[in-house]
Amino acid sequence: MIKYPNKTIELLLERASCRAFTNKKIPKDVLEYILKTGIHAATGGNLQPYSIIKIEKQATKRRIAKLAGQGFIADAPVNLLFCIDWRRLERWAKLEMAPFTAASSFRHFWISFQDTIITAQSICTAADAMSLGSVYIGTVIEFFLILKRMLKLPRGVMPVVLLCIGYPKKKTTPHSKLGIDAIVHNETYQELSDKELLKAFNQKYAGIKIDITPKRLKMIEQVCREVAGEKFAKQCIERIKKQGYISRAQMYFGLHYIAHKMPLQNEKYLRTFENFGFNWFKKYKPYRVKD
Ligand SMILES: Cc1cc2nc3c(=O)[nH]c(=O)nc-3n(C[C@H](O)[C@H](O)[C@H](O)COP(=O)(O)O)c2cc1C
Repeated sequence: MIKYPNKTIELLLERASCRAFTNKKIPKDVLEYILKTGIHAATGGNLQPYSIIKIEKQATKRRIAKLAGQGFIADAPVNLLFCIDWRRLERWAKLEMAPFTAASSFRHFWISFQDTIITAQSICTAADAMSLGSVYIGTVIEFFLILKRMLKLPRGVMPVVLLCIGYPKKKTTPHSKLGIDAIVHNETYQELSDKELLKAFNQKYAGIKIDITPKRLKMIEQVCREVAGEKFAKQCIERIKKQGYISRAQMYFGLHYIAHKMPLQNEKYLRTFENFGFNWFKKYKPYRVKD
């Protein structure tokens, strides 16, 4: 029986992140084709408000790997840092005597963020098509300002995500995902029933149960308390003890993406945006000619 209708669908459905790379270099022409696919992707108004920093120097990759606490980053022959880039367009506008306010516009920012990700994903797929493997690194957000200095990013150029690419050490196995029934809504949004919702997640994470340890329990209890108070914390711990394991949802939001700490970082990120020259969250003061 044919599992897939064609090679492209097979490639997309068999993809998985790769975190173990051989030391084989990526030939120049292969890398060029891959980069070209990203640059050819759809982009709002065909403006292309992004730049890609290609990092191949071992010392730089090692430093990023250390900052991110993810050693395999240094093993990938190429790291690509995808950045929103309004600087090139601002300079162009200036040279052409065109008015320009993109850094103060949330709409421009929003579209450029999408453009940057779409470009990255084309490159990711093209890398797969050329027998390479890749993995996104989102935790670079924790050290954007260090990257700014390290990679000499000018005002208006802000990192979004890093993509490590290289030849995989071994074949990667696709991860289980939520199915079409949970993700796709026909015509209007249709809420799943609690039963359907739990079924969908249980299928995705079938058999994955996280062991209870005193340290984990204490942490989840504290996070629950911070988010929703003592009563909820007690109920959560009782639930964990009754079920005999920590569920995937409890792990994600209680241990990994620590629920009460996530919103506390907002202020820091807003300051980061400002540092990169984006101030769309501030009131815009239009230029007025004084009479
Ligand atoms: C925006 C984004 C950020 C990510 N950040 C990291 C990361 O910092 N480290 C990592 O090992 N994987 C990272 N990943 C990879 C995800 O962990 C991975 O896509 C997910 O577990 C699903 O696995 P799959 O890609 O094999 O389907 C990231 C993926 C995305 C899309």
